[in-house]
Parts: sequence; structure tokens; C-alpha cells
Amino acid sequence: MKKPYVFVTRTLPKKAIGQLQQLVELKMWPKEDVAVPRDILLEEARKCDALLTMLSDKIDSTIIDNAPNLKVVANLAVGFDNIDVEYATEKNIAVCNTPDVLTDTTADLTFGLLMATSRRLIEAADLVREGKWKSWSPLLLAGQDIHHKTIGIVGMGKIGETVAKRATGFEMDILYHNRSRNSEAENQLGAKYCSFDDLIETADFIVCLTPLTTETRNLFNAATFKKMKRSAIFINASRGPVVDEKALYNALVTGEIAGAGLDVFEVEPINADHPLLTLKNVVALPHIGSSSTETRITMMRLCCDNIEAVLTNNIPQTIVNKEWKQSGVN
Ligand code: GLV
Ligand code: GLV
Repeated sequence: MKKPYVFVTRTLPKKAIGQLQQLVELKMWPKEDVAVPRDILLEEARKCDALLTMLSDKIDSTIIDNAPNLKVVANLAVGFDNIDVEYATEKNIAVCNTPDVLTDTTADLTFGLLMATSRRLIEAADLVREGKWKSWSPLLLAGQDIHHKTIGIVGMGKIGETVAKRATGFEMDILYHNRSRNSEAENQLGAKYCSFDDLIETADFIVCLTPLTTETRNLFNAATFKKMKRSAIFINASRGPVVDEKALYNALVTGEIAGAGLDVFEVEPINADHPLLTLKNVVALPHIGSSSTETRITMMRLCCDNIEAVLTNNIPQTIVNKEWKQSGVN
């Protein structure tokens, strides 16, 4: 029997894909650091039974309509806003993501970004590296304290809760806003639920971890930044389009807020001439939230396991569209 055909949109290490490779005909886009061009993705989609995708690949109705044999899209991310899940569900294509395995790693990066922004670590490290450190000085690169301040987490899913856990070690007051209450975070971490407006008006650190949906697009805009404290630091580790970047830039330039730590952007990658990069009070990272070697390998293996499950008519471990039905099963 013909083996199923799987297309992987980046080059992934053998130790992550080896097991799947024995079961299927597997082809990888031969680059690690460049996204697969749209026309090649379309061409591959036409042939494949499964796609292993990156968050930088847009899996829309055009791709899906071009993929008559496609049974599963396994996305190497917890977020899946790059995939038209509704349309995939209509076509009974399983959409899988990688939750849970990246929670601690992403929370570490988020808290690290908060710390780097507040204590100006990147500016400080650059100063030393550039030979500009002239003497110890009383207010050299003085930042803002983190301990005993108020953190406000917008989007209290697993990653938000894990960031809150880290905040308890810094004896912070923890506020959160979420569609639903998170009783575990309230009972075990002392997080306090509050309205979005109360959170942005009160928090010293506003940490955005909400998924990108039609409701959260541009959630942080000119009006939102105006309500924040002038000393507030804004951290975004979710998705760029949750923020109106021009409004953020203006808020930073006019001193409406004190700083921003950004792991994500409206359009990625950003160029070196991006306006936000002209500001010293911005720490910008290239979307590396879950990027520890261990976690990325685990995420890749989970994608492969999910593909294998669907192709062998089993239920994948982590599926986004729960309405998906196994074929051949009543
Ligand atoms: C990263 O942004 C992810 O969604 O996993
Ligand atoms: C700082 O290094 C200090 O000794 O205060």
C-alpha cells in the first residue's frame, strides 16, 4: 500500500521526526530559517495527507481547497490563528497544536522579558559590549523594581497562570482578566480577577497572553494605553495583532507608558528600521517564547505523534477542533 505523504514546512531535526519518517513518505522544505513560499506550499498541499506547519504558514481555505487528501494539520505552536480552523472542521481535517508542553518555557521567557524590560538588561549589556561603560554611577541604567509591584495578566490560560506562579516568587500582587474565571489561579496563587479597564489602570506590568481572535484583535490601542499608568510596562508574548503598534509607539514616545517588551509583532519578521526599534525603552525579541531546545524538540515530536495518530485512525493527543471525527468510525 502507498505510504501517506507528509509535508513539513521547515527542516526539523532527525531526532524529532525519525519515528514518523519510518511510517510515511516525508518531505521537508529544505530550509530552517526561511518560510516555505506560498506556491510551493500550495503544490505540496495538493499531494499530501498531512501537513506539519509553523505559525508563519497561512493555512487558509485556498490551501485547504487545494488539498483533497489532507487529513491533519499539526501546527508547531499552541496558537492556531494562522489556520482557518472553521473551514478545516467543515472538511473534517484535524487541526492539532502543541499546548501544555511549552507552558513553563513560555512563562519563563515572558517573565524574563518583563525583567529585561524593567531592569533595562539589553541596554545595559549593549553598553558594556560597546565599550561605553565609563564608571559605576549612582543612577547608571536605573530601571524599575519588579518585586512587590502589581502584575496584570490579560489572558489567564495555562501560560498566564504559570507566569502568575513566577510572580509569586517576586511577592507581586497579581491581577488578571480572562473570559472565564481561573479558580486555581485565585485559590492557589492569590490572583485577583478584575475587569480589563481596572487591570490596565492599576497594574505596573501589563502582560498580554491572550490568543488572537476577532475579539482580541487591537485590544491594546490608543485608548487602552492612555488608561495605563505613566510608569506602566507593557509585555506582549501572545500575538502581534492584539496590539495596535502605531498606538503603542505613540504611547511610548509621549511617555503615556514607560516601556514595552515585545516577543511578537503585527507582521513578522520586523525589519531593523521598524519604528519601535528606534526606542530605547523597547525590548524586542524574535518570537522565541517557547524556544528552548528541549521544548521545541518535544513540540516537534508531539506534532509527529498527532500526525501519526490521525493517519492510523486514532485520536490525536492535542486537537483544536474537537468536532473532528475519525474516519471509518461511526
Ligand atoms: C507561539 O507563539 C505559540 O503559539 O506556540
Ligand atoms: C552594588 O554592587 C553594591 O555593592 O551596592
